[in-house]
Amino acid sequence: KVQAVIAPSLLAADFGILAQEAQKVLDMGADTLHVDVMDGHFVPNMSIGAPVVKCLRKHLPNAFLDCHLMVSDPEKWVVDFAKAGASNYTFHVEAHNDPAALIDKIHSLGMKAGVALKPATPVESVLPFAEKADLILIMTVEPGFGGQSFMGSVMPKVKTLREKFPLLNVQVDGGLGLGETVETAAAAGANVIVAGTSVFASSDPAAVILGLRNAVNS
Ligand code: DX5
Ligand code: ZN
Repeated sequence: KVQAVIAPSLLAADFGILAQEAQKVLDMGADTLHVDVMDGHFVPNMSIGAPVVKCLRKHLPNAFLDCHLMVSDPEKWVVDFAKAGASNYTFHVEAHNDPAALIDKIHSLGMKAGVALKPATPVESVLPFAEKADLILIMTVEPGFGGQSFMGSVMPKVKTLREKFPLLNVQVDGGLGLGETVETAAAAGANVIVAGTSVFASSDPAAVILGLRNAVNS
């Protein structure tokens, strides 16, 4: 069985002390850091870009920086993110007409490659690339904002991916926390858990990270 990967979303952190926030959750047992990049066009919000990834990399030389590009032109930013020190580059299948080629380009620059699906996008759109990709991200909210409610209606897509690809990293992102949502996602077959609000707004983030891990590995 694929093991849990717990990825706190830095979107819910205090951007004014971002490196400390990132170090804090790593010290508390997080596996990777989820970095949400928004261009104000693919989604109706803006967040951060490659310059911030570059600074995080400087402060956290060994961290796995899992970058989720919610942008209309993902091809445009690949080199910048590789140079900045991104570990993984996840782009949206809705935003590119040749995902296989973009996955190759990401790999050639030394990054892992992920492909993300918005809630309304059918899983069939990603099946041809699922073995080439290092990760498939099934969005469990409409991308754009943290703190939204988990959409259980997308779980059939997670189930399909897990049935077809037993060793694939299946990531879920949006509205995940303890007490129902992570359990639902884990039961469907998700193993990479992104969690922003539930980790950073908690008075005991370490317990949340452990609970998320146990929900997947149990
Ligand atoms: C939404 C982002 C998510 C978000 C998750 O557009 O992709 O990563 O920050 O935040 P929570 O866990 O608060 O839903
Ligand atoms: Zn995300």
